[in-house]
Amino acid sequence: MGKWAFIYSSVTGNTKKVAAAMAEAAGDADLFRVQDAPEDLSGYEVVCVGYWLRLGGPDPLTLKLLPQIHDAKVCFFQTHGTDPTSEHAITSFARAGYALGPGCEILGTFGCQGAINPALLEKRKKEAPNGPHHGPHSLERWAKAANHPDDADLQAAQDFVKAMQHKLVVREQYRKKKAAKIAALKKNKEQAQEENHG
Ligand SMILES: Cc1cc2nc3c(=O)[nH]c(=O)nc-3n(C[C@H](O)[C@H](O)[C@H](O)COP(=O)(O)O)c2cc1C
Repeated sequence: MGKWAFIYSSVTGNTKKVAAAMAEAAGDADLFRVQDAPEDLSGYEVVCVGYWLRLGGPDPLTLKLLPQIHDAKVCFFQTHGTDPTSEHAITSFARAGYALGPGCEILGTFGCQGAINPALLEKRKKEAPNGPHHGPHSLERWAKAANHPDDADLQAAQDFVKAMQHKLVVREQYRKKKAAKIAALKKNKEQAQEENHG
């Protein structure tokens, strides 16, 4: 199994925690802040990109990085105030995928909640009643996010890495089996042709 790169963007530390847990689970891995990401990622088997959500998509530094990643197997991981199963969180993965450079394949995605910066919460609490973040649902979501990422999230992040490693192994086995089947069919066909001619 080849080396993995983990590139993360994080302001208040949530995504950094997830990135560190994932890199530990991967074993042979390099961990980079988005600001320090190498230009040449061709030596990595998988490139994992982690970001925090802003305006329902990857944060600005990550949006700048994504088009530069090309011809790579990519995993996304994201932290956000919203629930991981929400449309908001899922659409964000699509936005990240859309921003990638050419020739990439998305291997998998992982998301969990992350505590929201208290300064932003204070601002949002003062929002007008018709604003998108006003009301009891927002307060409830923010309160839920406040304890994340927790130990269960970090464990799930590590389990995700193991599952992706397993996925690569299974895919390779499938490819080999398929190639052997095609080679056997070709050989049988050639033998039949030789017998017909002889
Ligand atoms: C300016 C700003 C905008 C945000 N926008 C969103 C958003 O659109 N959707 C969301 O679910 N969370 C949003 N959040 C919450 C962060 O994505 C979340 O707290 C994240 O875990 C922060 O990650 P970090 O600690 O790695 O910086 C926003 C936070 C900030 C500060």
